[in-house]
Amino acid sequence: MDALNDKKQLRTLGTTNQIRGLLTILRNKETSRADFIFYSDRLLRLVIEEALGYLPFASQDVTTPTGSVYNGVEFTGKVCGVSIVRAGESMENALRASCRDIRIGKILIQRDEDTGLPKLFYSKLPKDISERHVLLLDPMLATGGSACQAVEVLVEAGVKPDRIIFVNLIAAPEGIQVMTERFPEIKIVTAEVDEKLNEKKYIIPGIGDFGDRYFGTL
Ligand code: PRP
Ligand code: URA
Ligand code: MG
Repeated sequence: MDALNDKKQLRTLGTTNQIRGLLTILRNKETSRADFIFYSDRLLRLVIEEALGYLPFASQDVTTPTGSVYNGVEFTGKVCGVSIVRAGESMENALRASCRDIRIGKILIQRDEDTGLPKLFYSKLPKDISERHVLLLDPMLATGGSACQAVEVLVEAGVKPDRIIFVNLIAAPEGIQVMTERFPEIKIVTAEVDEKLNEKKYIIPGIGDFGDRYFGTL
C-alpha cells in the first residue's frame, strides 16, 4: 500500500467519515438494493467531481456583485465520457449531472467469470474523441484487465494516454499496479483502495459484484 500511495497517477477521495460512511453502507451485504443505488449515486457524484479537477484549467478573472475581482479559473479543452458497459453505465448520470451535454461513448467488455479475463464485444465512441480528454468510467478495478483493454480501444481511436482519467469507486492494488505500469501517463481517481484480490479475482473486502447489485441481477 505504501508503494501505491507514492504513485502520482493515483488519487483517492480523502478518508473523511462522510466517504467512509458511504462506503460502509455500500460494502454491507445487508444493504437493500434501493439504498445501494442511492448511496452509490452519491459517492459516484463525488468521484466524478474529483476527477473533473484533473482536467486542464486556465486563469479567469471575474467581477463579483461587490465590484471586486476574483482571480478564478475556467476549464479549457474538450472532454467526453466513456463507460465500460455494464457497471460503468451506473456512472453516467453522475457525469451528466456535472457536465450537462457531455458526449458519452460505450465500450462493452465482459470479464469471464471463471478465468477473470476480459473480452471486448463492442465500442461506439464520439467521432472526434482523439481531440478530447476522456473520463473512462468503471466502478470496479480488480485485475485491471478490463480497464487496460478499454484504454487500448481509446488509444487505437487516437486518444493520447495522458488525456485519459480512469474514474473508479473501489480499486485493488493488483489492478492499480497493472494499469499504471502499462499506461504510466493515465490518471486513476478512486474512492478507496482495497487490500487484495481473492482466488476468484474479486476485490477483498470489496463490495461484491457491483453490476449485479446496482442493476438487480443477483
Ligand atoms: C466488472 C467491473 C469491471 C471488471 C473489473 O465487470 O465492472 O469492468 O469486472 O475486473 P477486472 O479489473 O479484473 O477486469 P463485469 O465484466 O463483471 O461486468 P458487469 O459490468 O456486467 O458487472
Ligand atoms: N467486479 C466486481 O463487480 N467486483 C469485484 O470484486 C471484481 C470485479
Ligand atoms: Mg459483473
